Amino acid sequence: MDDLRQTYIDLIANAPDEATLEDLRLRAVGKKGEISLKMRELGKMTAEERQVAGPALNALKDEINSALAAKKSALENAALDERLRSEWLDVTLPSRPRRAGTIHPISQVTEEVSAIFADMGFAVAEGPQIESDWYNFDALNIPGHHPARAEMDTFYTHRAEGDERPPHVLRTHTSPVQIRSMQDQGAPIRIIAPGRVYRADYDMTHTPMFHQIEGLAIDKNISMANLKWVLEEFVKAFFEVDDVELRFRASHFPFTEPSAEVDIRCSWEGGTLKVGEGDDWLEILGSGMVHPHVLRSGNVDPDVWQGFAFGMGIDRIAMLKYGIPDLRAFFDSDLRWLRHYGFAALDVPTLRGGLSR
Ligand code: DAH
Repeated sequence: MDDLRQTYIDLIANAPDEATLEDLRLRAVGKKGEISLKMRELGKMTAEERQVAGPALNALKDEINSALAAKKSALENAALDERLRSEWLDVTLPSRPRRAGTIHPISQVTEEVSAIFADMGFAVAEGPQIESDWYNFDALNIPGHHPARAEMDTFYTHRAEGDERPPHVLRTHTSPVQIRSMQDQGAPIRIIAPGRVYRADYDMTHTPMFHQIEGLAIDKNISMANLKWVLEEFVKAFFEVDDVELRFRASHFPFTEPSAEVDIRCSWEGGTLKVGEGDDWLEILGSGMVHPHVLRSGNVDPDVWQGFAFGMGIDRIAMLKYGIPDLRAFFDSDLRWLRHYGFAALDVPTLRGGLSR
């Protein structure tokens, strides 16, 4: 019995896994196990023999059973430790954000406008935000004494002491990109130029930095009729309406002749804007036929070429389209505002897929 005991205690101690252990259990204390068979022999023994062998066999069975149980839980613990080691996870790492960042309405509207004009053959052009006084004013037929200079509340940069050249300005409009594009590409040309512009002004509807989009189309026989068609197509696509009425109001800009401000028919019923119906008119842009002086500044011959230009406030049309009441909130970087008015990053505006969803 001592041999039997020693054999199984050793085997159990060295069992490498639970399957081996189960095997040993059956061999020792299972129904046909060695110890069970020995217990059956108790019946053939004399009463005296049984009194000795019985308790001894029971004790052996108990000992083996508890050795099996101890080994089993040791194997289970080892397996658990191994799993914990291999499936290790740093719970102090930051969690994945539940929501990614959003596209700012200004970026969204810039993309929308660009998609619409791209569809009509306009390329996107750019110019610097710090602009020379010549590009911002003179080249656009706004000479030094012109009241438009004073009206624009221009930000000027500093020149070094004794430097007599006129200071650079933060561009007050995107119109200088007309000149730069004509100089770079010549005619014919069809561009839009979205970007930041600056004026010293601040209230509910003005911020010192805001956004415009410039348009320019020069060719040999472009007329006001083309301007009107392009703007109508734009407004219908942008406000996502089938029909819209535009009103061209005679106006004056130094860089266009004739000049027109363009209003769209709308209603404000119930405090919300509806484009294309109602009795109100809403001014959305300035436009006109490019002045010969401006063509000349761009090295384009006004006897051969002509065309139209327009300039529109991006912030303004973004407020109108998406019902944003206060311009200043655009630039506060308030996360709650950005989440509310922002656009999903992967919803790129296209005419086919929809401008805004
Ligand atoms: N540059 C003008 C402004 O900032 C807007 C403008 C008006 C642009 C008429 C144009 C235009 O190209 O033709 O107020």
